[in-house]
Amino acid sequence: MYNFDEQIDRAGTDCIKYDAMDLIYDHDDLLPFWIADMDFKTPQPIIEAMKKRLDHPVIGYSKWNTDHFYDAVKHWYQTRFNAKVMNSDVHYAPTVLFTITEVIRTLTHSGDGIIINTPSYNNFINLIEGNKRTIIEAPLIDNGLNYTMDMEYFESLCKKPENKIFLLCNPHNPTGKVFTKEELDTVVEICAAHDVFIIADEIHMDFVRHPDGHQTLVNWMKPDSPIIVVTCLGKTFNISGLPHSFYITKHRYLTLDLNRKLISVYGLGSTNPLINCAVQAAYMECADWVDEVNQYIEENMQMVKQFVDDELSDALDVRIPDATFLMWIDFSKSGHDEQTVQQALQHIGKIAVGIGSTYEIGESTHFRLNLACDRERLKEGLSRMKQAFDSLSVEAKKVSSK
Ligand SMILES: Cc1ncc(COP(=O)(O)O)c(C=O)c1O
Repeated sequence: MYNFDEQIDRAGTDCIKYDAMDLIYDHDDLLPFWIADMDFKTPQPIIEAMKKRLDHPVIGYSKWNTDHFYDAVKHWYQTRFNAKVMNSDVHYAPTVLFTITEVIRTLTHSGDGIIINTPSYNNFINLIEGNKRTIIEAPLIDNGLNYTMDMEYFESLCKKPENKIFLLCNPHNPTGKVFTKEELDTVVEICAAHDVFIIADEIHMDFVRHPDGHQTLVNWMKPDSPIIVVTCLGKTFNISGLPHSFYITKHRYLTLDLNRKLISVYGLGSTNPLINCAVQAAYMECADWVDEVNQYIEENMQMVKQFVDDELSDALDVRIPDATFLMWIDFSKSGHDEQTVQQALQHIGKIAVGIGSTYEIGESTHFRLNLACDRERLKEGLSRMKQAFDSLSVEAKKVSSK
């Protein structure tokens, strides 16, 4: 049994969540439920492995392609996702977004279309725009129970020759959608038929509550399939402060090209040795921790749902997502626009939640709540959220009685 109720003061550690709030919000003393890392301790076997490495006094250049790295990744994929991974298909890269960017730059030209589901992880939007490619939206449709994709519309986008890549996020940030096996069959088939390359960002793969579990696109790969899966251990084990990632692909040209560029374009020939130890400890020794943290997050989700149903149902709609530690909360019922809601959350409630419009092209009627934190803090956050929405309804009543 792990104690996820423990309250840990992260302020003053230079962490973005607490110490860089003023980058985005009007105040720097808000209760934070925004950036997607967890407030839980990194599992002890990982800390111990890193400490042990530091007992050796030389922290020189380090390699990643060792038997213990491959064995750890293969073990995790086999035991968690029933996926067989070969050493030759797994490769290190400095971050998930680095690989996504490099694949986009390698396979497309300026102006080409990159298809994303919207709403979208904000950095997909940023890096497509930053690399002067065109965002092509395949909107996710909220059917009241779940999010779905209009496959006919998706195919019409893939048919256009200028649209070269589908950048899939599965599990999906921010909605928490899990793509089913059937949906992935269709997506892979459509993309293959129209020569669209699939980048699957599976960074949230270990937080899945859907009964079928996480379906990794690794299980759809054949020799030279136009598919790459990118992921890392940052979210799962709360080690995002140590940049690292790996990708899995059977696409030989892309692998050669990415590995060549890593050294000869970016000069990145070494990993961080602490990460080498962390990968091994995490994937070989921390499965039970991941199961328990998921259980705790599920209970947090239920608490939020219950609270909103009991106290805030006039203003908010929430649904427990199939995956992630994030909730994509709809405030359209409140009748207020995003700016008004954000002002109330920040100035009255004093909480920082993910700002919906950073995940959408245009206006938003949502915000993203990160509930990977101890339950007391979440309770406090919910009561502050209620204060914020109560103040909005009092204001609205005043205006209507004038
Ligand atoms: C879907 C998704 N991809 C990538 C990242 C960031 O990955 P990295 O820091 O390895 O680039 C995040 C972080 O929130 C994410 O949610």
